[in-house]
Amino acid sequence: MTSPQPGASGAPGRTAVRGGLLVTASDELHADLLIEDGRIAAVAARHSDVADGWQADRTLDATGKYVLPGGVDAHTHMEMPFGGTFASDDFETGTRAAAWGGTTTIVDFALQTKGRALREGLDQWHAKADGRCAVDYGFHMVLSDVTPESLHETDLLVEEGVTSFKLFMAYPGVFYSDDGQILRAMQRAADNGGLPMVHAENGIAIDVLVEQALAEGRTDPRVHGEVRRELLEAEATHRAIQLARVAGAPLYVVHVSAEKALAELASARDENLPVFGETCPQYLFLDVENLAEPDFGGAKYVCSTPLRPKEHQEALFRGLRTDDLQVVSTDHCPFCFSGQKELGRGDFSKIPNGMPGVESRMDLLHQAVVEGKLTRRRWIDLACASPARMFGLYPKKGTLAPGADADIVVYDPHAEQVLSAETHHMNVDYSPYEGKRITGRVETVLSRGTTVLDRGEYTGRAGHGQYVPRGTCQLLG
Ligand code: URP
Ligand code: ZN
Ligand code: ZN
Repeated sequence: MTSPQPGASGAPGRTAVRGGLLVTASDELHADLLIEDGRIAAVAARHSDVADGWQADRTLDATGKYVLPGGVDAHTHMEMPFGGTFASDDFETGTRAAAWGGTTTIVDFALQTKGRALREGLDQWHAKADGRCAVDYGFHMVLSDVTPESLHETDLLVEEGVTSFKLFMAYPGVFYSDDGQILRAMQRAADNGGLPMVHAENGIAIDVLVEQALAEGRTDPRVHGEVRRELLEAEATHRAIQLARVAGAPLYVVHVSAEKALAELASARDENLPVFGETCPQYLFLDVENLAEPDFGGAKYVCSTPLRPKEHQEALFRGLRTDDLQVVSTDHCPFCFSGQKELGRGDFSKIPNGMPGVESRMDLLHQAVVEGKLTRRRWIDLACASPARMFGLYPKKGTLAPGADADIVVYDPHAEQVLSAETHHMNVDYSPYEGKRITGRVETVLSRGTTVLDRGEYTGRAGHGQYVPRGTCQLLG
């Protein structure tokens, strides 16, 4: 790489990325790319007169590598309060880890506290993130208290770029909304253009099973997976779809883990309903065997929806191929084993729910490409383009095209790596994928033209990342 010369945006004036295979959701091109003032200025065929004529201040040599749009992780929980503790990554450590893993935009969930205004929760999340992020970020809003006031506030939030609202059918007494509240929130979204997102598990029924399991002395982490029955995810998914249908609203179901829940989404989509779904790497690569790891080790894998028996993985991959699932996000919500997951020793219901993942998503999905489960373009669709479209960020984010932000990953598809807590950059003391060998690695990452990872050396800084107000869902007909 030649030495960079800062331009107006703080990024080098003109950068050419040459020699790589550009992969987007729609194309694979042997092409070069020119960056100016933090944006992609041009894409031109390799060795064409146009590309050869570019005068650049520096050149990134991507020979033998893929050139990808930066990843868009539409489901993270930095510093989220849960079960008396907080997710161990804050916006600084979490977005730095995202950059290491080739993710250049996150959409995090701001939380409404019960009895308080959405505005207050959103302001708190802005304060946590402002000046701390290594990559760009936006927010969804969690509606924990559906009232006439909070519904009115959703109109204002949509206008200012917080265009999606999560409702929980799980966690009674904490984030839970009942069907009437969910219906009202969906009706409001149908009017104001917001996208309702649901955590689809029947939390009321699950709490009965939790109580019964604990009374029988079944306290291990694996029981977390047993009581959060697949049927109760499928039932809630079905109910959410019907409520959205009655409201005339679109619907996005987060962290789909199970074949029967996926079948509900597929049949709704077969009826041309605007229903979308996301799954996460943990459901594609881990299973209930992990929850049964000895010495309370299963606690590392406690998240909701829970890990399922291995057979579900094939169904989820099929759903990703057939577009019954559109997005792979991480639901990054890490808690250290020591001192945090351990809160649930002797009572699985006290284990904070959530797993780390923001750094490994692009790599794990590439591994699925290596194993023939996804095509390269579908990888980029699921990890970049489709989340950008779903959450009103496209084409600024999620693609490589003139005018787009120069969020670019140079990816070495042949590098071998072993995932480990020893080498990852997330602020958590274990890796759910400890020892897993994968092929492919993020080499260099640009965020709006600024190099944040340079051939495996971190060059980013807290505060480079900017808040990105979002438009409404771009996948509605
Ligand atoms: O276990 C999880 N998923 N924790 C984060 C909160 C949520 O439900 O997404
Ligand atoms: Zn959830
Ligand atoms: Zn989540």
